[in-house]
Amino acid sequence: MNIKEIYIVGAGQMGSGIAQVAIQSGYKVILNDVDVKFVEKAKANIEKRVSRLVEKGKITEEEKEKALNNLSTSVDLTDAKNADLVIEAIVENEDIKGQVFKKLDAICKEDAILASNTSSISITQIAANTKRADKVVGMHFFNPVPVMKLLEITKGLDTSEETLKVAQEVGEKLGKVTVISKDSPGFIVNRLLDPMLNEAIYLLDEGVATVEDIDKGMVNGCNHPMGPLALTDLIGLDVLLAVMEVLYKEYGDPKYRPCPLLRRMVKAGKLGKKTGEGFYKYN
Ligand code: CAA
Repeated sequence: MNIKEIYIVGAGQMGSGIAQVAIQSGYKVILNDVDVKFVEKAKANIEKRVSRLVEKGKITEEEKEKALNNLSTSVDLTDAKNADLVIEAIVENEDIKGQVFKKLDAICKEDAILASNTSSISITQIAANTKRADKVVGMHFFNPVPVMKLLEITKGLDTSEETLKVAQEVGEKLGKVTVISKDSPGFIVNRLLDPMLNEAIYLLDEGVATVEDIDKGMVNGCNHPMGPLALTDLIGLDVLLAVMEVLYKEYGDPKYRPCPLLRRMVKAGKLGKKTGEGFYKYN
């Protein structure tokens, strides 16, 4: 199947990052969110980031214009009717994702592929909200999307080989390295990464070390590009908590229990970079 038009649901940091790499790779993209102010903000951010690439000499002015011409916005899901591929990148909540997939299934072309950027929720379960489980697939990108090379593709119980192949081809056209995972909680990367981030918060909660020293430890002792607490701030504390809840619920193993400090900080609205405060403070 030849993918030309991609409809992206959710204009947050993941959705807008996916939109940016897709328009730069020649896809027509419609970026959706529930309110005009969200899509306008995302569009302005994309324009700013693409302009910065011109300033750095990474792309030409002409390439920038071409990319930006590929982008349009939408606040009405019915605009997904002509899309060949839909990528959902909304809040990590089973029920809300389920409702969106049910609506998309009714709106989209029969042969359209419906993908989710979920980092932990079962693709099989998401697909159960549609009548096209063979065309539902996980396409999990990493933050910041324009920088991180990986696309983790997840095969639900009924995802067809053809759908997997298309997801891989799109990933390659977006310049990503693709890996394939079975539909298992946390897939590959979050199953490994998120318990480490959660453990770093336990270290802090137990008073073993300061925020700065925990991060310095992993940056200088393991060559991580940023420390686990700074990375949690980048990802969003609410996002990490949502993933840990899924891992804990699905595996029932205490090693996945979300750290109480993580819960408290989410309750207090300290979600990281996006709210101006997490383990660090941001302007
Ligand atoms: N969007 C686009 N580009 C960005 C960016 C963003 N949000 N943030 C940084 N960049 C670009 C910069 O423009 C810069 O580009 P050039 O090299 O062309 O100048 C490059 O990235 C490096 O940025 P900086 O020099 O500002 O900073 P840095 O060298 O410290 O790198 C980082 C920043 C890329 C975020 C790096 O610290 C890093 O790789 N951190 C780890 C990120 C990571 O692990 N992400 C995965 C999270 S898990 C996930 O996303 C999955 C999930 O489901 C939760």
